[in-house]
Amino acid sequence: MTRTPVNVTVTGAAGQIGYALLFRIASGHLLGSDVPVKLRLLEIPQGLKAAEGTAMELDDCAFPLLRGIEITDDPDVAFDGANVALLVGARPRTKGMERGDLLAANGGIFKPQGKAINDHAADDIKVLVVGNPANTNALIARSAAPDVPAERFTAMTRLDHNRAISQLAAKTGAAVSDIKRLTIWGNHSATQYPDIFHAEIAGKNAAETVNDETWLADTFIPTVAKRGAAIIEARGASSAASAANAAIDHVYTWVNGTAEGDWTSMGVVSDGSYGVAEGLISSFPVTTKGGAYEIVQGLEINDFSRTRIDASVKELADERDAVRELGLI
Ligand code: NAD
Ligand code: LMR
Repeated sequence: MTRTPVNVTVTGAAGQIGYALLFRIASGHLLGSDVPVKLRLLEIPQGLKAAEGTAMELDDCAFPLLRGIEITDDPDVAFDGANVALLVGARPRTKGMERGDLLAANGGIFKPQGKAINDHAADDIKVLVVGNPANTNALIARSAAPDVPAERFTAMTRLDHNRAISQLAAKTGAAVSDIKRLTIWGNHSATQYPDIFHAEIAGKNAAETVNDETWLADTFIPTVAKRGAAIIEARGASSAASAANAAIDHVYTWVNGTAEGDWTSMGVVSDGSYGVAEGLISSFPVTTKGGAYEIVQGLEINDFSRTRIDASVKELADERDAVRELGLI
């Protein structure tokens, strides 16, 4: 049976994450090795030529699953009929820019993109926001798309999730594949909280296995939360291949489901679970099945975790208030 291609829109396609991402989408890693895709690449006018170069390289790979590439600087065209949208392109913070300026500049990108998704995307659209500040950019896009169910807008904390698994594996000598049920709570920022109290290593509780609260508080959490800055310091550029890999993981898991007994971390619209104000786009433990996700319920939150979740959620609420004041939501 010939499958209808899935329309995948990638913004910021000529950027460094875009370059690491597009080849993996076209080779079947985003949706599955039997799912054909059509790519729509959205760039600003200055990025179009480089995007065309990447498209030439994509052609040169002769990917059997790639059924077309369209390049545009018009969001209405880019999101027309989109089934999956990866919002990667964002305005980076530049010298002298205040936080409010950054939020305003990104509002100028994510508000019109949210509206274009609202007006033109397919009914089953799934949106992943990668561009920073990812959670609040997702909130802005979601607010501009009142006709799209709110749960279709998600923000990426899978890179933090993967980083935390890797650090925990290194500490305990466990295989990465033995680590389950790790959670990133809150914002994709230095306030995020990687939680190992419900995580398991080869079936045993991770916090009990580690049994070292000093390591947890002084090494593990800051290493994971500040990893993005450490990569920038080391590479002279922000994470790209690992961010693209996490975007692939996020969408693949959303579409294809979490493994039995495991969960993942996604920035999703809060329904008030765990005391996170309704409507904020915050990272939670989620299970996925049949293309939908649910926030894992009933986890006991100890004092150590509560303080840290609350701090990150407060930052999200402050960002929401700032964009509200700017009239962006
Ligand atoms: P980059 O600067 O290399 O590329 C960004 C691209 O976006 C550029 O080509 C630019 O022309 C394009 N762009 C800007 N405005 C656009 C618009 N309105 N429409 C379409 N395209 C637009 O940046 P990068 O390294 O690829 O990173 C992209 C974003 O991802 C940054 O905001 C970065 O901070 C963020 N990021 C997030 C995570 C995460 O875990 N959530 C991890 C790494 C990076
Ligand atoms: C990351 O976590 O690697 C990025 O979000 C860092 C950044 O500021 O781009």
